[in-house]
Amino acid sequence: MAEAPLAPAAPLLVVDSLDKVYGSGDTATHALQGVSFEFAEAEFAAIIGQSGSGKSTLLNLLGLLDTPTSGTVTYRGTDIGSLGKPRRAELRNSLIGFVFQFHHLLPEFSVYENVVMPALIAGVPDDAELRRRAEETLGLLDLEGVADKNANALSGGQKQRVAIARALVNRPALVLADEPTGNLDTTNTGLVYDLFRSINEQTGTAFIIVTHDRNVAQRTDRILEVRDGLLIADERNRYIGWGDVPAGARRRQPV
Ligand SMILES: Nc1ncnc2c1ncn2[C@@H]1O[C@H](COP(=O)(O)OP(=O)(O)OP(=O)(O)O)[C@@H](O)[C@H]1O
Ligand SMILES: [Mg+2]
Repeated sequence: MAEAPLAPAAPLLVVDSLDKVYGSGDTATHALQGVSFEFAEAEFAAIIGQSGSGKSTLLNLLGLLDTPTSGTVTYRGTDIGSLGKPRRAELRNSLIGFVFQFHHLLPEFSVYENVVMPALIAGVPDDAELRRRAEETLGLLDLEGVADKNANALSGGQKQRVAIARALVNRPALVLADEPTGNLDTTNTGLVYDLFRSINEQTGTAFIIVTHDRNVAQRTDRILEVRDGLLIADERNRYIGWGDVPAGARRRQPV
């Protein structure tokens, strides 16, 4: 007799009926309304939408930086709403890396110190292990030469790469990036995109990138579009490299 098929593994992330209301009464803002989707390990996606549509609100909920008014966020089968604060923080630190528009590096600290900060918070006790992780991560980002420099001595593009290294140092399953190239010129935008893509391919880290930049969005594998707090589109996007491909070559299909 054929063996029963294995139960499918839980997806990396399941978002179900997420609502977020800021404030109350007359001043309440319904920033998200019933957002639901699933996200697999190693996916590479963009979230797009106009200013004020709810992108950062959604990313903050996915990143466990904020709690929904209702609805659930489930990572690898664990409903985050059922966890106490310490476990939630622990999970956030081990599972998720953040990259923001502004690098938020600590200027008085070296590149090395900035990069290992999340590993220190995660309780990696051993200097040799910290060094090893930092070197590996800085290597992924072509930053080996600047480990001992002060963060404020770097160029804007280098600082953003250090911020990406810091997001990766705990080997997260998912990187959440909110306008990571919003402050960069075209060259550095391309560089950051290429780094995200190569890290995704080399390590299987999933990426969700909030972006206003069509060049970035159309080079991801999936585009989620938010409007007025609603998820209005969720489409597979044909992968194209950064090398110039006409915008009309985009192929989008429903997920
Ligand atoms: N902390 C908050 N308190 C009250 N209202 C908020 C708060 N954060 C966001 N909002 C409101 O929620 C809505 C969604 O905001 P959000 O920041 O998620 O938009 P966004 O899509 O990220 O916009 P942008 O592209 O400008 O960054 C907006 O109407 C915004 O004013
Ligand atoms: Mg935003």
